[in-house]
Amino acid sequence: MLYSRIAGTGSYLPDRVLSNADLERIVDTTDAWIQERTGIRQRHVAADGQTTADLAEMAALRAMEAAGVTAADIDMLVVGTTTPDLIFPSTACLVQARLGANGCAAFDVNAACSGFIYALSMADKFVRSGQSKCALVIGAETLTRMIDWTDRGTCVLFGDGAGAVVLKPSEETGILSTHLHADGGYKELLFNPVGVSAGFIDEPGHGVKVKMIGNELFKVAVRALARTAEEALAANELPQEALDWLVPHQANLRIITATARHLGLPMERVIVTVDRHGNTSSGSVPLALDEAVRDGRIQRGQLLLMEAFGGGITWGSALLRY
Ligand code: UT7
Repeated sequence: MLYSRIAGTGSYLPDRVLSNADLERIVDTTDAWIQERTGIRQRHVAADGQTTADLAEMAALRAMEAAGVTAADIDMLVVGTTTPDLIFPSTACLVQARLGANGCAAFDVNAACSGFIYALSMADKFVRSGQSKCALVIGAETLTRMIDWTDRGTCVLFGDGAGAVVLKPSEETGILSTHLHADGGYKELLFNPVGVSAGFIDEPGHGVKVKMIGNELFKVAVRALARTAEEALAANELPQEALDWLVPHQANLRIITATARHLGLPMERVIVTVDRHGNTSSGSVPLALDEAVRDGRIQRGQLLLMEAFGGGITWGSALLRY
C-alpha cells in the first residue's frame, strides 16, 4: 500500500498585526466581546501590495526546506485559496513561476476555508496513485482584502496568512483518509455576492465584501465538524482515544472547543492559533500544523485529525499519521 506522507511543513504570516484594541477604534466592538465570543486577540494583515501569492511563496519555501526538496523535485502544485491574486492565471501558476517549478501541474482549489483540506485531498490521490512523487500543497489567503471594515459581525474575525506541506510517497504510513463534503443549499450563510459572471457592482454598500449569518453558520459548523470527525475515525476503524492531536480550522475558539469535547479530547491535545491569527481561511490548518511541528508538540508517528469548515458550505477532514 502506498501512502502520501507529509515530508515537511512551512508557514508565513505578514508582519502587520491588528489587535482587538485597534478594531475598537474602527467599529463598535470591544476586546472583551471579541475574546469571549471568538477567542481572538489579534490577527495579521497583509501589507499594501502584498498578495496571496507572496504569502504562499514564503510558506512554500519553508515547507520545501523542511522537506529537503528543491523546485526541480516538485511535480504537482495545488493552492487552496478563495482570495487569488488574479482571476487568472491561478495563484498556483504564479507561485510555480516564482519557485522555478515550471512544467508541473499547477492549479487552485476554491473551497473557501476548507480549501487546504480539499487541496490536500487532491494531492493525496495523485501521490497514492503513483502519478506524483512530490506534491506541494498550499493554503494561502488575504481574506482581509474582501472584508467590510464597517461590519463588526465579520471584520473582527479574519486575518491573512499561508501554510504549506510537501507530500511524498511512503510505503509505511501517512494520510490514512480524507473526507470532503459540501452543501450548496447553505450558500447564504457565508458568501461574497460579486464575481466575474454575476458582475462587480460599483456602488456604495456593494463591492467585494464577505457576507455572513454568523450565528446560523456556527450551529451548522459544530454539527458538520462533529460528523466529519466521527466519519474519519470510523473509516479507519480507530477509536477516539487513538487520536494524538486535533488540528482544526481556526474560525472560533468555541467551535474548536465543541469539536474537542465531542471527541473527548482535552484542549492540551488541540492546536489553537485562532487567538493570534484569527481566521485565515485556507491558511489556518497548515499554519496551525506548522506551528505545532516546529515547536515539537507534533511528533513523527502521531495520529492527527485535521478538519475545516467554510463558505459554500464546504467541510472536510484528513486523518493521518504524521
Ligand atoms: O471559517 C468560516 C466559518 N466561519 C464561522 O464558522 C463563523 C461562525 N460564527 C461565529 O463564529 C459566531 O457566530 C460569531 C463570532 C460570528 C458571532 O458570535 P455570536 O455569539 O453567534 O453572536 P451573534 O451573531 O448572535 O450576535 C450577538 C450580539 C448581537 O447583538 P444583539 O442583537 O444581541 O444586540 C450582535 O450585534 O453580538 C453583537 N455583535 C457584536 N458585538 C460587539 C456581533 N458582532 C459584534 C462585535 N462586537 N464584533
